Amino acid sequence: MEFLEGNCDVSAARMKFKTDRAIPAEGYRIEVSPKKITVSSSTESGRRYALTTLEQMGESIPCCVVEDSPRFGYRGLMLDCVRHFFTAKEVRKVLDVMAFYKMNTFHWHLTDDQGWRFEVPAYPKLTEVGAWRASASLQRMDGLRYGGFYSVEEITGIVEYAASKGITVIPEVDLPGHMVAALASYPELGCTGGPYEVRSGWGISDQVLCAGNPAVYDFLDAVLDEVCRLFPGKYIHIGGDECPKTMWKKCPKCQAKIAELGYTDDERFTKEERLQCHVANHVQKFLSQRGRKVIGWSEIMDGELDEGAAIMSWHDNKAGIEGAERGFDVVMTPALNCYLDYYQSDDWDNEPLAIHKGRRFLPLENVYALDPLDGVKPGTEHHILGSQVSLWTEFISENEHLEYMLLPRMIAGAEVQWRNPEVKDYGRFLRSLEAVHYPLLDAKGYNYRGNMDKNKGGYRVGGIIISAPRL
Ligand code: ACM
Ligand code: ZN
Repeated sequence: MEFLEGNCDVSAARMKFKTDRAIPAEGYRIEVSPKKITVSSSTESGRRYALTTLEQMGESIPCCVVEDSPRFGYRGLMLDCVRHFFTAKEVRKVLDVMAFYKMNTFHWHLTDDQGWRFEVPAYPKLTEVGAWRASASLQRMDGLRYGGFYSVEEITGIVEYAASKGITVIPEVDLPGHMVAALASYPELGCTGGPYEVRSGWGISDQVLCAGNPAVYDFLDAVLDEVCRLFPGKYIHIGGDECPKTMWKKCPKCQAKIAELGYTDDERFTKEERLQCHVANHVQKFLSQRGRKVIGWSEIMDGELDEGAAIMSWHDNKAGIEGAERGFDVVMTPALNCYLDYYQSDDWDNEPLAIHKGRRFLPLENVYALDPLDGVKPGTEHHILGSQVSLWTEFISENEHLEYMLLPRMIAGAEVQWRNPEVKDYGRFLRSLEAVHYPLLDAKGYNYRGNMDKNKGGYRVGGIIISAPRL
């Protein structure tokens, strides 16, 4: 940003919009003079981001020239609406704050062991049975029937609302593990035939889809056909994380499939890992025939994954680095920089209950510190599409708590996605939170960690004030 003549009164300035093909996609140029604010861009997104920047600059806009464009094309946030269900209205509020921080991709986690959150016409029990579980809490069995799903109208509405804000929705159907809600609905899709119950606790289940049963492939095709109908974006997320091979090792159908495919163990992968890749390749073929691309968690690479898939690197950045070397596109969401379900400080007893108590926390500074290109081999950087902050909700049932975990760490994630490392500055970032962003979040009605004064020395979560130290 270049200041021209100090502060000037722009209250009477006219807005003027120009198209300038030389400006990078999503970039913009703002020229402010006392009479005129000129916004130039080559795309609609660039124009939108320029207006957002002006809003963030507040009332006293200096005379200046701002030229800006994002470092990465994929600027994502993941929200888990399975472990706890958030209403369409609450999801739209998340989209609003994403747009305000120039994020462009909403990864929507819609299926898991603890629930199935959208209707599939050919498989009605997915929502009749699979959307409901026997406990609201996933920490202790409370006996409260809990669940919900999004109607076709709600999903279409969210996709359109997101698009109006320049955000693409990537739906996730987590497969072939994290599928207990589907197994509870259609037990014949599991290796043992069940019975299964939608999970009321969290963790990893050994019960996964039977990869040796042809009915499972028909099921996946029907589910993904509906996903394609509901979600027009290029990418479909197929999960793939944490799929234990315990049942597959014992299941005659899975072992027969492995034999048919001629898989054996070798020093790189087990035959069961290769079987998981076979499922991913089936799904990828199905989706590519419909013009879509697959993205999946790191584990989808464990085997001979067909080209064209993208990898979401989550334990750390290693899978992403390897994926780029193997020629896959990559989104970085390494847990220790990007998992917003982790505690925000090590003040374990004063922060709201979160995952990995006493063991792992993710302070704002570490979100800010990520460089998605760190460790990426020269010549493969072009495969790193960008990064994502990810919010799992095993411990989060209230919208206020959700916002508390999201903010302000999401804003730090947005800076990682947008800014080049040489213009990042954590001190400046902290000052801008206090001076600009907290007042804006207050005005927009968001809860966030850092609003100590407003809440009389504590943080408001789930309607109660709890005490917690300032950052
Ligand atoms: C994951 O956190 N299991 C992707
Ligand atoms: Zn099986």
